[in-house]
Amino acid sequence: MERITVTLGKRSYPITIAAGLFNNPAIFWPLTRGDNAMIVTNYSIAPLYLHALHEHLTQAGITTDQVILPDGEQYKSLTVLNRVFTALLKKSHGRNTTLIALGGGVIGDLTGFAAASYQRGVRFIQVPTTLLSQVDSSVGGKTAVNHQLGKNMIGAFYQPSSVIIDLDCLKTLPRRELASGLAEVIKYGIILDATFFAWLESNLDALLALEPQALAYCIRRCCEIKANIVAADEREQGLRTLLNLGHTYGHAIETHLGYGIWLHGEAVAAGMMMAVQTARRLGQFNDAYAEQIRQLLRRADLPVSGPVEMAPEDYMPHMMRDKKVMSYKLRLVLPLALGKAEVRDDIANDIVKASIKDCQP
Ligand code: NAD
Ligand code: GLY
Repeated sequence: MERITVTLGKRSYPITIAAGLFNNPAIFWPLTRGDNAMIVTNYSIAPLYLHALHEHLTQAGITTDQVILPDGEQYKSLTVLNRVFTALLKKSHGRNTTLIALGGGVIGDLTGFAAASYQRGVRFIQVPTTLLSQVDSSVGGKTAVNHQLGKNMIGAFYQPSSVIIDLDCLKTLPRRELASGLAEVIKYGIILDATFFAWLESNLDALLALEPQALAYCIRRCCEIKANIVAADEREQGLRTLLNLGHTYGHAIETHLGYGIWLHGEAVAAGMMMAVQTARRLGQFNDAYAEQIRQLLRRADLPVSGPVEMAPEDYMPHMMRDKKVMSYKLRLVLPLALGKAEVRDDIANDIVKASIKDCQP
């Protein structure tokens, strides 16, 4: 069993990584006998994992209710969030309750925001079941729902009390979802860790084959990187911004096409190639690195160009609503080398549009 700590003073918390974790009641800390909890999950995950989790919590003396939501990015909304509040109120959950997010990033982000706002804040635990949520979204306390006009626009920074990563969950994950998670994995290599990028080049096939040792190493390394970044810059005043590589372009794709048409990781993959192109146009990123990134994304079955139905002009209104925009200025994360990136706020819109055009199919 691996343990990583996200160090945030009194709000520090463990990330526990192992296979078969649901069978180990010790991992439910900080829940103890006599506590009550509400598991939040969706209709696809419930038949796979809800029963086991519920049984183990019950055996550990924790009274557990459940709320099952529809499955999909389009349901990461205020309307569906309200269903969680209704379920909590109907079962008379008070401030001492704990929400348990059992699912991918959609369930994790929505449950985290429910926890941040229910009765002004209750405890929550992340039990991420997708690769994407295990390497990224369950760690760091960004919680949110989408607005029709923009991704993750309504939310809060609110840290979980614990993150419990059971590697066995990935055995049931559809292949397209595995690839989507790999986009965020590859992102860490590009922005901060050239050695990890090289490791990915050598081990991508093992990851795609769900080889346990490769998966365990990959997830641990991503969680270590993310935990360090969050400890240094919880509220994204500096270093944490780098985690948004490709996201400004990618969120535009997700919002413009309609949530759930392209998966988050797919949009981020195309967005990272657009950021690479922007950096190339500025003369700050060499062609060999760009080709290495393209090859790795392609091997992971991820898109390296944007959707055919979107013109460069379609991106701009969405990009200008990005949460990083300051004083109406676009702020973009751009790579400098493998393992190195920077934030720029001085890129002309024409260059941005030209680089999106470079990535048209
Ligand atoms: P998701 O939550 O939609 O899950 C993907 C699909 O896999 C869903 O259909 C889900 O029901 C299914 N699924 C989940 N676990 C499964 C399993 N073990 N076996 C079989 N099916 C399973 O998508 P995601 O990729 O996990 O998360 C994407 C979301 O995360 C986006 O909303 C994105 O904005 C958000 N995100 C948040 C952060 C953050 O820091 N908070 C970071 C990155 C992404
Ligand atoms: N996934 C971006 C962040 O956590 O900051």
